Amino acid sequence: MSSSRPVAWRRALGYIGETMPSILVLFAHPALEKSRVNRSLVRAARDTAGVTFQDLYERYPDFHIDVAAEQSLLVEHDVIVMQHPFYWYSAPALLKEWLDLVLEHGWAYGHDGKALHGKALLSAITTGGREEAYCPRGYNRFTMAELLAPFEQTARLCGMDYLPPFIVHGTHSLSATDIERHTDDYRRVIEALRDNTLDLGAARAFSRLNADLTKVLH
Ligand SMILES: Cc1cc2nc3c(=O)[nH]c(=O)nc-3n(C[C@H](O)[C@H](O)[C@H](O)COP(=O)(O)O)c2cc1C
Repeated sequence: MSSSRPVAWRRALGYIGETMPSILVLFAHPALEKSRVNRSLVRAARDTAGVTFQDLYERYPDFHIDVAAEQSLLVEHDVIVMQHPFYWYSAPALLKEWLDLVLEHGWAYGHDGKALHGKALLSAITTGGREEAYCPRGYNRFTMAELLAPFEQTARLCGMDYLPPFIVHGTHSLSATDIERHTDDYRRVIEALRDNTLDLGAARAFSRLNADLTKVLH
């Protein structure tokens, strides 16, 4: 790795450990009262020390996003987690609005847009579709990596490192026990990002970060 790589990137990915990476979870779910899975995952994010949790639909029910406040939050954190249900192969509308408004030219990208350089971005997603549906011969025809390409490339354009996504598939058939297990996995991933104990090299071998945590968390 080049020595000119930004410090936060290295910290977030576990290369140096003198400072705890700070984590911002941007959560977007327009109908949390109907949610089973995200409602549970939210507990893991909210309850973990060192995590700032921002519920976008709670904060901006009218879609009037405070761009300056959101940009300040981004600047203050090393790892940005975008947690949301998969809606029409993408994110709920408010997160798209957030991207459109907050990631300004000259701030997040463009010649002088370096505010996010060196940070890491993690998508934490729940899908109704089962994992096997997300492949060329499957019901949804495309892989998750292909469908998440806009998020990956947005991160890249902003000088951020896009981590392998945390994905919970097949939400409609999950039992309460399954949801607890995924919530526990999510908590462990967030803690590992915070504590620099996530082996990103190992994680990159999997299509999703939580495919086999025994090989990814140390
Ligand atoms: C408007 C809408 C669009 C959806 N689009 C997709 C989709 O493109 N792919 C998919 O697998 N599931 C899709 N779903 C299912 C949700 O992803 C699923 O209900 C959600 O992840 C469950 O999480 P929750 O219990 O937190 O609501 C959609 C659901 C809604 C309401």
